[in-house]
Amino acid sequence: MLNVNLLTLFPEMFPSTLGQSLSGRALDKGLWSYNCINIRDFADDKHKSVDDTPFGGGAGMVMRADIIESALLSIPEENRGRKIYMSPRGKPLTQNLVKELSQEENLTILCGRYEGVDQRVLDAHDFEEISIGDYVLSGGEPAAMIMMDACIRLLDGVMGNAHTPDEESFSNGLLEYPHYTKPAQWHDMKVPEVLTSGHHKKIKDWRLDKSEEITKARRPDLWDEYKE
Ligand code: ADE
Repeated sequence: MLNVNLLTLFPEMFPSTLGQSLSGRALDKGLWSYNCINIRDFADDKHKSVDDTPFGGGAGMVMRADIIESALLSIPEENRGRKIYMSPRGKPLTQNLVKELSQEENLTILCGRYEGVDQRVLDAHDFEEISIGDYVLSGGEPAAMIMMDACIRLLDGVMGNAHTPDEESFSNGLLEYPHYTKPAQWHDMKVPEVLTSGHHKKIKDWRLDKSEEITKARRPDLWDEYKE
């Protein structure tokens, strides 16, 4: 059971894709839950402003530390868990980090908009910064959803026991081998013969070979780590 507190200016963005399919059924079953806190509810002026111009000048607006803190403190401390700020500056989200996060009971995710958030609130409350990749989104919400999706599928009871997480990409340091299903011939393409042979050892070896071949070609960084 994982609960995620989301500090956001756009609570209506959730659950979005997380309300569908695997994660949606898991949400209905109570295997995970989320709690949106609208940062704007903590604005203290009549215009409900949450941001201001950056000290030092420059483009855009910065979300205010005091308002984000008020939103954070509205969550009872025992329900906060690890505090995460989604940011392209953060440590990269990997499958290992996903596994770690999926074992937590609570997470609190701060989703920034505009140019970002005042650094002081991140420092004062020890936010971990996490990035979902080397590109810039317009806000942290889609990044939070991606991270949550990756965590939710690993929760107990979400995927059913037929699933073998140790065979999927990254779990053994390799990318996954290719999959095939019926029909055995499609256009002029046949399924690799070994897969219809019923020879389990040969199938296993073929899959490992393919995994290695694909990883070597596509992700030399992963390949170098795997070899070590
Ligand atoms: N917010 C904007 N871009 C992001 C990224 N790449 N990862 C996480 N949060 C973000």
